[in-house]
Amino acid sequence: MKTARILTIICFVFLLPATLFAQQNKEQFINTLLSKMTLEEKIGQMTLFTSDWDVTGPTVRSNYLEDIKSGKMGSIFNAYTVKYNRVLQKAAVEETRLKIPLLFGYDVVHGHRTIFPIPLGEACSWDMAAMELSARVAATEASAEGINWTFAPMVDIARDPRWGRVAEGAGEDTYLGTQIALARVKGFQGTDLSKTNTIAACAKHYAAYGAAQAGRDYHTVDISENTLRDVYLPPFKACADAGVATFMTSFNEINGLPATGNPFLLKTILKKEWNWQGMVVTDYTSINEMVPHGFAKDNKEAGEIALNAGVDMDMQGAVYYNYTAQSLSEKKVKLADIDDAVKRVLRVKYDLGLFDDPYRYLDEKREASEVMTPENLAIARDVARKSMVLLKNEKNILPLNNNLNVAVIGPLADDAVNMIGSWSAAGDGKKATSLLQGIKARTAITGKVLYAKGCNINDDSTNQFAAAVAVARQSDVIILALGESAAMSGEAASRSDITLPGMQQELFDELKKTGKPIVVVLMNGRPLAITELDQNADAILEAWFAGTMAGHAITDILYGDYNPSGKLVMTFPRNVGQVPIHYNMKNTGRPFEANNKYTSKYLDVPNTPLYPFGYGLSYTQYKYADLKLSKSKFAMNDSLRISITVTNSGQRDGEEVVQLYIQDLVGSLTRPVKELKGFNKVMLKAGESKTLSFTIDADDLAFYNRDMVNQAEPGMFKVFAGGSSISGLEGSFELVK
Ligand code: BGC
Repeated sequence: MKTARILTIICFVFLLPATLFAQQNKEQFINTLLSKMTLEEKIGQMTLFTSDWDVTGPTVRSNYLEDIKSGKMGSIFNAYTVKYNRVLQKAAVEETRLKIPLLFGYDVVHGHRTIFPIPLGEACSWDMAAMELSARVAATEASAEGINWTFAPMVDIARDPRWGRVAEGAGEDTYLGTQIALARVKGFQGTDLSKTNTIAACAKHYAAYGAAQAGRDYHTVDISENTLRDVYLPPFKACADAGVATFMTSFNEINGLPATGNPFLLKTILKKEWNWQGMVVTDYTSINEMVPHGFAKDNKEAGEIALNAGVDMDMQGAVYYNYTAQSLSEKKVKLADIDDAVKRVLRVKYDLGLFDDPYRYLDEKREASEVMTPENLAIARDVARKSMVLLKNEKNILPLNNNLNVAVIGPLADDAVNMIGSWSAAGDGKKATSLLQGIKARTAITGKVLYAKGCNINDDSTNQFAAAVAVARQSDVIILALGESAAMSGEAASRSDITLPGMQQELFDELKKTGKPIVVVLMNGRPLAITELDQNADAILEAWFAGTMAGHAITDILYGDYNPSGKLVMTFPRNVGQVPIHYNMKNTGRPFEANNKYTSKYLDVPNTPLYPFGYGLSYTQYKYADLKLSKSKFAMNDSLRISITVTNSGQRDGEEVVQLYIQDLVGSLTRPVKELKGFNKVMLKAGESKTLSFTIDADDLAFYNRDMVNQAEPGMFKVFAGGSSISGLEGSFELVK
């Protein structure tokens, strides 16, 4: 006690003033620098162009080295490797008047060279430490190759599987998505941004990009402010509070206002309400896109709208570059806003330590020794197996015995390149392992391993069916790798039909006729509508695009070296017509009743999904008992403890994700039927029991009411605890004033 007090005093007397001093120093440094800058140099700091290495839209500049030298471009993206970036940084700090270093941005989304599972897959691990570590490894590798800023994490809540970008996020739930966003920011930024192996993160795409109508990328968003604040903003707010260095605006409009020209989102909420001091970059040419949105008459006006709304840096649009000086002379924008934007950019550079040493991320030795190391590959393999979700396992066909003869079939069975998924940055698919390679590398297998492709991912040909059937006939079990190509999800990759593409279902049907058991391994970037597979496959393992180590990680699960523990973070619909479908929908005034026509339902498909949020099987079983609440009523300023005992009642050790949901029964606004409020991933040895506790207080029960105040309301609540959003034990409590 005494020591603690002394430590607190030491903190106050020495450390706190030291931090304050450092802050003052920083602001002083930035103000001094700003006072020396010409308008052109200021606009340069607000300008970001891609190098010609990678583009995800139009290329508007090619002579970027000249722009750097003239101070007209303060940051660059899609440039990496120490050798290349050194040339660019040298131009910035040795050939410009003020020697301001460059930021080097890149989409390091799920790994840099060592590729981890797509973020949606990783999220299914529900393992915050694993996701933090994945981001940490990505930051280490990226920073070793000259990158100091990643355009990640994507923290968009995504509830429409047609939207290809669901692959990049953490799924449909706000609570879980928020925890994952925090883990990823922590992984990228660490605790000290000035360390050479940490990089600035970017919370994107602000905001509500995932709510695009009909799941079509870049499409219109029209949602209430309540939905915006309750569902889409919390992960962003958490990132802002955690000190994420940058935010990226989104391409979409919200309720008629493009996000890139939206003062309500950028100034009112982000910069004022949340008091966030970081820097806002646009998405790729999203200032210019306000013209086709029908919100600005030309690029110049679009630039004025963006700057007035609070956009600090223009990615790739050349709008600030071309027009901001003129707009200022015409008094269409304010110098104070330009200065504020420049300060925000300079702060990021300062925090990264670039003013101390602009070459700090340009270290050939690190580049040679810290990228794709055996340690990083081992971590990627472990994260990959944690990300996979066992959807079906009839008669415990999995795990497989080593002595079985297996027919490895399917368009993705010996595909390494697609394993790294979309947004795989500097990853090289040729360095990934295919499933077939993974199986062949497992020395313990004594059965025969046969292979046939069967069909392509997405065409009409059945030419390869016969060869696949022949191979299947010689085996004891078929391992069938089906799914999408990597390019079928990610940006600009929406699908209106989310069944298996091409002739894959037909291939399955042909193989089924052999009578051999079929273990399907799915590789895909979104929930798929696979009702037929669910009915007819013996086992289904959702492997996502699992990254560089995909083949090994899947093999680990198929042969029982790892007991699957992943749980879905996005609902799998029975068909696309059910979309949007997520676990936390509202009840309606006519909730489903099987025998009552005039209730909310479809004529042709049940309301329930194929696989619900939170669902995933294991090679062992878990039993839940003893749901206990510390009290039946609790007050606003009090809290409630909820405990539950989970037992591994099967034969194998395993990890279970214990989930806690609540339902607010009556609200001043209607509330979802369930809301996740806690989870705990716990390792249980065969036969072992553990009692887990969760604490709930009024803040956990709060939502935005009609006055746009975030608060809990007194009344009755239900609580559910179990292994998915549809199973478990139920209790209730009352929140009192
Ligand atoms: C994407 C962003 C990405 C940016 C830079 C855009 O097309 O929407 O997510 O960070 O390109 O590559």
